[in-house]
Amino acid sequence: MIGRLNHVAIAVPDMKAAVEIYKNALGAQVSDAVPQPDHGVTTVFIELPNTKIELLEPLGDASPIASFLERNGAGGIHHICYEVDDIIAARDQLKQAGARVLGDGEPKIGAHGKPILFLHPKDFCGTLVELEER
Ligand code: CO
Repeated sequence: MIGRLNHVAIAVPDMKAAVEIYKNALGAQVSDAVPQPDHGVTTVFIELPNTKIELLEPLGDASPIASFLERNGAGGIHHICYEVDDIIAARDQLKQAGARVLGDGEPKIGAHGKPILFLHPKDFCGTLVELEER
């Protein structure tokens, strides 16, 4: 079921500083910052030859990454995103296996304009997992 690694998301307290690191120190191809008010974050995508890095900075008062950054002041890996062919089939299969889907369990349209779901980290080796339909 699980497909390619779509991206690794890193929560950062200071997007400008994070972009400097990836652009200047690491020499990566870095997108413009895009505010995503629906998701409570500003995102920057970094294209690597085999995957992407998604930098996340809190946006607004109720950002879903605010508490993560309280616990991880310097930032840190927030989630990993795997591609699946059929997100509903993947969700149903995982639920049947006992995994918990976050939120209301229905796919939302994510930062790439594709259906996504998040899975409970306690069911996936302590890692918040995002599924994105290909
Ligand atoms: Co993501």
